[in-house]
Amino acid sequence: MSAPDETASFGFQDIPAADKAGRVKGVFDSVASKYDLMNDLMSAGVHRLWKDAMVDWLDPAPGGDILDVGGGTGDIALRIARRWGAKGGHVSILDINHEMLKAGQKRPDFAKLDPAVTFDWICGDAERLPVPSASKDAYTIAFCIRNVTHIDRALAEARRVLKPGGRFLCLEFSRVEVPVLDTLYDLWSFKALPEIGARVAGDAESYRYLAESIRRFPPQKEFARMIEAAGFEQVKHRNLTGGIAAIHSGWVI
Ligand SMILES: C[S@@+](CC[C@H](N)C(=O)[O-])C[C@H]1O[C@@H](n2cnc3c(N)ncnc32)[C@H](O)[C@@H]1O
Repeated sequence: MSAPDETASFGFQDIPAADKAGRVKGVFDSVASKYDLMNDLMSAGVHRLWKDAMVDWLDPAPGGDILDVGGGTGDIALRIARRWGAKGGHVSILDINHEMLKAGQKRPDFAKLDPAVTFDWICGDAERLPVPSASKDAYTIAFCIRNVTHIDRALAEARRVLKPGGRFLCLEFSRVEVPVLDTLYDLWSFKALPEIGARVAGDAESYRYLAESIRRFPPQKEFARMIEAAGFEQVKHRNLTGGIAAIHSGWVI
């Protein structure tokens, strides 16, 4: 619940906090059917390397039980499952948006996986996880947390559902820390992205929101402090592509 006068960022706008989840849902309803194609076009395929880097750092132990929040069409879950292969394990893919989950469930990639890996698809909110406390070995969240209305509540929920010894990993767009690259990246985000969005997905606005929401998200060190404030230990981050994205890691001790 949000207080009546509370506001939240929606791209560069400040809107009533109570409206944010609905506006974010609108964005992902609109992009769901073209989501995977657009990711490849927007990042020239680099999002695949970033996701690989996240799962490399996670190094998931076989037989584990992992929750992937904002799991969308299942890119992180697929990578975890391929690592486990016949050794097996379980991944819950949770997303607030039913259209994104539906697009994921239709992906032929899931049918090609070893049946020793099992999945469930849960429609739910990162701020109120329908998941028992201390039940998960790892919590992953990729390119989702900046869309959440109350990031602190999502982090508290991540902490709650993890077992002692559990791992938190977040992949998110972050702050470019390389001169010149930041200028090029701004041009790409604010000029090219909405144009590609308009041509391919028929929706420039959602991709403008994407670029703006990235600029409003806290930079690497500030986000690390938020993760620590939620009760995680040994919080570290790694920049990807000069800080265009970053992975944050934390542990439940
Ligand atoms: C950019 S997509 C990322 C999907 C996937 N993790 C990936 O990396 O390809 C962000 C996802 O977060 C979901 N999302 C946004 N707000 C959420 C919330 N409060 N709780 C759960 N999922 C949320 C959206 O519906 C969307 O599927």
